[in-house]
Amino acid sequence: MKLTRLTYYSQRNPSEKLDVDDLISVCQRNNNRQFLTGLLYFNGDHFLQVIEGGRVEVSALYHRIARDPRHSNIILLSCVDVRERLFPKWSMGLHQGMNDRTRDIFLRYFSTDEVNPETVDVESLLDVLQDLSAELVPTISKN
Ligand SMILES: Cc1cc2nc3c(=O)[nH]c(=O)nc-3n(C[C@H](O)[C@H](O)[C@H](O)COP(=O)(O)O)c2cc1C
Repeated sequence: MKLTRLTYYSQRNPSEKLDVDDLISVCQRNNNRQFLTGLLYFNGDHFLQVIEGGRVEVSALYHRIARDPRHSNIILLSCVDVRERLFPKWSMGLHQGMNDRTRDIFLRYFSTDEVNPETVDVESLLDVLQDLSAELVPTISKN
């Protein structure tokens, strides 16, 4: 089965209640069942999410997420077939906020710590997200 990796950027909808802990536990529960993996970065205003897995599952999840009122202005940055997962240990890892370490990681690959979805280089963005994931506890444990 083909593996697909989808990356998008979106804006939090401030008029909708958002409990990030609840959201991430739903993500992890659902994604685990479908062998979906990835990372969600939330800086307080914007989401950046990478979803990896089977084409059909990734596509269905993206359509579901796109209808979610907790965010809007969703911009699809990339959707490609891949040979290998970048986030195999996370049914959905979460990195929140912008601390000094986060900023250092952004500045390793970009000239600023702000993502411009119109111009951003997705490969560099994936490098940032991979570096961020290095500090996260895996959510999938292999037996
Ligand atoms: C930024 C964002 C990212 C999300 N990521 C996922 C995800 O990775 N997996 C998932 O199942 N739901 C995700 N959701 C939630 C879905 O939109 C939807 O609420 C959820 O899948 C419904 O699950 P349920 O039918 O089990 O309640 C996300 C929502 C938002 C706003």
